[in-house]
Amino acid sequence: MEIPGSTRGRVFRGGPVPSVRIMAHTISVHGLRKRYGRVRAVDDVAFEVGSGEFFGILGPNGAGKTTLLEIIEGLREADEGEVSLLGLSPWPRNHALLPRIGVQLQASSFFERLTAREQLRTFGSLYGVPGQKADAMLEEVGLTDKADVRVEKLSGGQAQRLSIACALVHDPELVFLDEPTAALDPQARRNLWDVLRRINTEGRTVVLTTHYMDEAEALCDRVAIMDAGRILRLDPPAALVRGLDAPTRISVAAGTLAPAEARALPGADDAADDGVSLVISTRDPSAVVAALSAKDALTGVRIQGATLEDVFLDLTGREYRA
Ligand SMILES: Nc1ncnc2c1ncn2[C@@H]1O[C@H](COP(=O)(O)OP(=O)(O)OP(=O)(O)O)[C@@H](O)[C@H]1O
Ligand SMILES: [Mg+2]
Repeated sequence: MEIPGSTRGRVFRGGPVPSVRIMAHTISVHGLRKRYGRVRAVDDVAFEVGSGEFFGILGPNGAGKTTLLEIIEGLREADEGEVSLLGLSPWPRNHALLPRIGVQLQASSFFERLTAREQLRTFGSLYGVPGQKADAMLEEVGLTDKADVRVEKLSGGQAQRLSIACALVHDPELVFLDEPTAALDPQARRNLWDVLRRINTEGRTVVLTTHYMDEAEALCDRVAIMDAGRILRLDPPAALVRGLDAPTRISVAAGTLAPAEARALPGADDAADDGVSLVISTRDPSAVVAALSAKDALTGVRIQGATLEDVFLDLTGREYRA
């Protein structure tokens, strides 16, 4: 079985999509459905995740990401369909799978009244992990200086890092992370990206959900975009972006040209000035840049192609849904 675009944790932007042979499926899902009353939380979902892949699930609030993950993890029963996890069925709860998978839930919970170090050591001990190794994981997520702080007193982001450490402490071959960076500051996010890239490069499969498009683009081999219980698209981020026929946006300082003058430039499709920037959309960016350059109007120029965010909004719509 060949999975197009799987690059084992490498980032690629633009250029031909590489393809590597990945023999085994770590996860295989077919005809999966889960309803809560009238809500179809998961509605006929099918996909496969290759061994060593970094797989992302994106979708608006309520799309069904957590429900889908929890069914695959063996925490929820599906109404219909099949799940194979490392070749085994996760439901009814399969204890043989537990040491092989790491799970970070969207809402983290800990043993009460333990410090961060005790917490991680206790989690680790359930899997026979030595205390030193647990302490090293605490270091890896940047919590060593909080080792003696009780979990109730950790900040939201620190608690989240601890819950990620708990998911990784026993060296699982497959890791599920449900919005792991939701409460993290930019430094902690980047640090976690490094941790996740490293564990993926070591051959572990990572499945994560995120609302951050840059995160999905930076980390994931393939991304499934979900909405209303269904997978709308599933491809490498670069292929999703290339498949979107979106214009390039060229912005220069506001007032550099009048919008009407900008619209008349060779190659320009549209232009608008919001008082901060004059943004020109075009499908022929080199013609526009050349024209701006000829007018000596390149002050503060920025050129932005379509991003995964454009793909996401194109597929799931722009209106806000509660
Ligand atoms: N235990 C439950 N009982 C009833 N409805 C539920 C339950 N869990 C989820 N739902 C509903 O199922 C749908 C999918 O929820 P889910 O939590 O899977 O979405 P999500 O994509 O993870 O959203 P978010 O981005 O907000 O985390 C929602 O409409 C939600 O209200
Ligand atoms: Mg969720």
